[in-house]
Amino acid sequence: PLAKPVDEIPAGNLRTLTRKARGCQACPLWKPATQTVFGQGPEDALAMLVGEQPGNQEDITGAPFVGPAGQLLDRALEEVGLDRDTLYLTNTVKHFKFEMRGKARLHKRANAAEQEACRMWLAAELLQVQPKIVVALGAMAAHTLFGNQFRVTRERGQWRTLPGGTRALASWHPSAVLRAPSSRREQLRGELVADLRLLAQALE
Ligand code: URA
Repeated sequence: PLAKPVDEIPAGNLRTLTRKARGCQACPLWKPATQTVFGQGPEDALAMLVGEQPGNQEDITGAPFVGPAGQLLDRALEEVGLDRDTLYLTNTVKHFKFEMRGKARLHKRANAAEQEACRMWLAAELLQVQPKIVVALGAMAAHTLFGNQFRVTRERGQWRTLPGGTRALASWHPSAVLRAPSSRREQLRGELVADLRLLAQALE
């Protein structure tokens, strides 16, 4: 159900996929990264949340959404009464990309070729979990799911249907909320919470 078809979708249950993805060298990001950060959550999750790519703390721990963006997401989910452990959380790109600045590892956005190389894993996760609802957090996920014409600014918070019937929604990426100037931050956070509330209502 991705916007562009994937040539070969890796087969297997989530355990197998996680193991296979651990050895992925389909793009150069595997080399400097600590590890692959595959999605996590129940095999039968009703909803899948798709972010952009792991950050520093995700790279170190191997789990998605555990750093500052993950904490913001956790609070937002809590606010709408959703339990994170019932959702499948994953990213569009499964490796941390960074640039050394002194001793710090500065986040860099995965380019089009790196996103393309990683699409097979998201396709495999979708095929295995078959969620009723998919939420794209940020433009990278929204473009992969809905096509490059999608604009989060104009189209977030609106239900759409993916080929195959999966319902889908886009919202702000929690990192975008964190990065926004303080004058805009509360508004963006409120919109993210409102969009997650749509998810919570659809799951009721
Ligand atoms: N941002 C993401 O998109 N995903 C993570 O897992 C963490 C931060």
